[in-house]
Amino acid sequence: MQISAKTTERLQRQYGDWVLITGATSGIGRELALQFGRAGFKLILTGRRAPLLQEFCTQLFDEYQTEAIPIPGDLSNAADVQALIRESAHLPIGIVVLNAGYGTSGNFLKADIARETNMLDLNCKAVLQLTHHFANQMKAVNQKGAIVLMSSIVAFQGVPHAAHYAATKAYVQSLGEALALELKPAGIDVLCAAPGPVESGFGQRAGMQMGSALKPEQVGVPIINAIGRRSKVLPGLLTKFLAFNLSTVPRWAKIRIIGKVMAGFTKHQAKR
Ligand SMILES: NC(=O)c1ccc[n+]([C@@H]2O[C@H](COP(=O)([O-])OP(=O)(O)OC[C@H]3O[C@@H](n4cnc5c(N)ncnc54)[C@H](OP(=O)(O)O)[C@@H]3O)[C@@H](O)[C@H]2O)c1
Repeated sequence: MQISAKTTERLQRQYGDWVLITGATSGIGRELALQFGRAGFKLILTGRRAPLLQEFCTQLFDEYQTEAIPIPGDLSNAADVQALIRESAHLPIGIVVLNAGYGTSGNFLKADIARETNMLDLNCKAVLQLTHHFANQMKAVNQKGAIVLMSSIVAFQGVPHAAHYAATKAYVQSLGEALALELKPAGIDVLCAAPGPVESGFGQRAGMQMGSALKPEQVGVPIINAIGRRSKVLPGLLTKFLAFNLSTVPRWAKIRIIGKVMAGFTKHQAKR
């Protein structure tokens, strides 16, 4: 799957050709960078793994002549968030994809609270700071802009056995759906992308053994296609299928059903 010429033309006309993507060294962020890069956008990419990020930027240039600037850093760290803001300030960024994030799962009582607060800093605090900064930067130069927030299918109800991860994504979803309406008059389009399970570095880091999952290539283009058109996208058929199946179920029952699914994803943890 690739972005069509028509979509490329629409996005460049509306937002210009600079795109910033956080968490571009693997998974969904890497796929989005490949798609934007192949289509001729210029990129600012982030991730903690500096050598991998540099290698990816070189690959994008070699394969597609894409100008890709690496800004490595740990976005759970306030100083690195400020460094990203500083180092990208001179560029006319029209599309910002706040994708970097990770999950945790398992028995809440046994959770490593330092890890949970670190996840909160990355999944929520950095997203808040960067959304606020880039929305203001776009407004200041009167540039039409788009901000994509990486939500999740787990954002729409509580999820036992991944309670805090789901809560971070509920925060992102709520922030995004409100800002989609509030920032529209300022010319800023906000999109919440809420994928179901995707094969990436996510599952291992989160301690989840997911059953069937989408490939990043199945979610990248649907997310890009939705920019400027909608405020929410459920990318990939599996995501739509899961959301549809739960659509008529009351919230209290959804929590139980999805909790059972997550108990299955995390049952290997009991053997540790
Ligand atoms: N996979 C799924 O099933 C799924 C479903 C719904 C939503 N999501 C969301 O989609 C987003 C991308 O996840 P993914 O599936 O693509 O996982 P992934 O393959 O693990 O990618 C995560 C990306 O975020 C970066 N990252 C992680 N911690 C970081 C930190 N502290 N500072 C800066 N960058 C950091 C990683 O780069 P470095 O390791 O180089 O730092 C990597 O590029 C996440 O927000 C996730 O919650 C995933």
